[in-house]
Amino acid sequence: MKFDDLLIQNLSNLPTSTVKEAMIYALNGKGKRIRPKLLYAVVKGYGVDPTIANKLAAAIEMVHTYSLIHDDLPAMDNDDLRRGRATCHIAYDEATAILAGDALLTQAFYLTASATDSYKINGYCTRALSQYSGAAGMIYGQELDIKAENMDLDLNLIKNIHYNKTGCLLACSLILGCYAAEKFDDAKNWHEIGLLLGLAFQIQDDILDVTSDAQTLGKSNSDAKNNKQNICRLMSVEEATQMMNRLYDNVKKKIENIDEFNSEDIYAIIDKLKIRSK
Ligand code: IPE
Ligand code: IPE
Ligand code: MG
Ligand code: MG
Ligand code: MG
Repeated sequence: MKFDDLLIQNLSNLPTSTVKEAMIYALNGKGKRIRPKLLYAVVKGYGVDPTIANKLAAAIEMVHTYSLIHDDLPAMDNDDLRRGRATCHIAYDEATAILAGDALLTQAFYLTASATDSYKINGYCTRALSQYSGAAGMIYGQELDIKAENMDLDLNLIKNIHYNKTGCLLACSLILGCYAAEKFDDAKNWHEIGLLLGLAFQIQDDILDVTSDAQTLGKSNSDAKNNKQNICRLMSVEEATQMMNRLYDNVKKKIENIDEFNSEDIYAIIDKLKIRSK
């Protein structure tokens, strides 16, 4: 089954409603699905059948999609274009968008709690998803991002925002894959790799925000309007690009050090990411 179909199928326990419609609307946009792809690549790299992680992959994409719906709200980045079409609160209304985000987050935990036949895997994954998406992870990053709109530019602050708002969900994707393969002791390594990968990915997001346009990106590029701590305000696009490439290379080196792991698939994902235009 295609991942996009699997995503929607994993909402089948929910009754028909406007909120469910809005959840499906947000999920159906043309996202890159980078978090599920990374998760599957880790499971496969350990030689385990990736279909064991289907519910975990759906869960992480739901949490990410919820974070985007809320990120676009007027109280946050106030954007009207996402994944090539109107943001959720424009297509529906603010109340429905808030609830659709809440419901995607809630559904994700429903999925991780019963993701596999192993209570241990399910428990570890549910706890990790909570830690990495919550007020010590992605939400903390979003809090810093909003607060920092009116602060002086600061590289350490930018890195901290990027590690948290973006690195945490990427780290979580890798760790869920690691847990699904029952390699519990490797989680620390994937945590480090995920944060670095998140920093690279978000620096690239900052670069694209200033060098590209909304139509190409399929989303509003509003960092300047919002006075964000975009890294390109602190250094040139060339310097930021060099930093990003160095980080991606570091990520690859760290993956190479993981025992009994075949990095072929995850390398291919990273190589594609490096040259992405949206
Ligand atoms: C956008 O994430 C928000 C960031 C963390 C930079 P993606 O670039 O993965 O968005 P989609 O899923 O492809 O729409
Ligand atoms: C958002 O960062 C990261 C999360 C949604 C957690 P941005 O605000 O830069 O993401 P885009 O550019 O709107 O996708
Ligand atoms: Mg934002
Ligand atoms: Mg935004
Ligand atoms: Mg951005």
